[in-house]
Amino acid sequence: MLKKKVEDICNRQVEREAYSSNLYLAMAIWAETNGFAGVAGWLYVQADEERMHMLKFIKYINERGGKAVIPALKKPVAEYKNVEDVFKEVLKHEEFVTASINEIVALTLDEKDFNTHNFLQWFVMEQVEEEASVKNILDKVRLVGKNNLYQFDRDILGLRAPSTGPQPQA
Ligand code: FEO
Repeated sequence: MLKKKVEDICNRQVEREAYSSNLYLAMAIWAETNGFAGVAGWLYVQADEERMHMLKFIKYINERGGKAVIPALKKPVAEYKNVEDVFKEVLKHEEFVTASINEIVALTLDEKDFNTHNFLQWFVMEQVEEEASVKNILDKVRLVGKNNLYQFDRDILGLRAPSTGPQPQA
């Protein structure tokens, strides 16, 4: 049985993963309507992954005798200055999510909840991968500069880490 404190912080994470999914959808829409089909494809896949993260928390909470809560979500930012701005925001958001996962890990140690601690290890590794993947993309965006974004947009489909889920359709 989950302790109430742990259940609550896991439900906070349900909200954060759901928001992540919506945020990446909003970014995908910006990219798609500004001519960056590759960037949009990457972000649509990322949005699906965040929904999968949310579902993992929902199922875990329910399995452990708690009750997952579907939250109201704030509206994500829909306008971005350029592609670099999008990925700067993705990285900032992933760093926020990493900190959030780490807070839950710390609480499970305080509460001696080793089952939840174990459940969280997948997320700890996932955040390492996600941050590395986005940093890599951001480096590429900065390298190509404004004039070569056509090629970047075409190549981004190959920049996903192989273990992060289904590949976007070209
Ligand atoms: Fe579910 Fe990208 O963190």
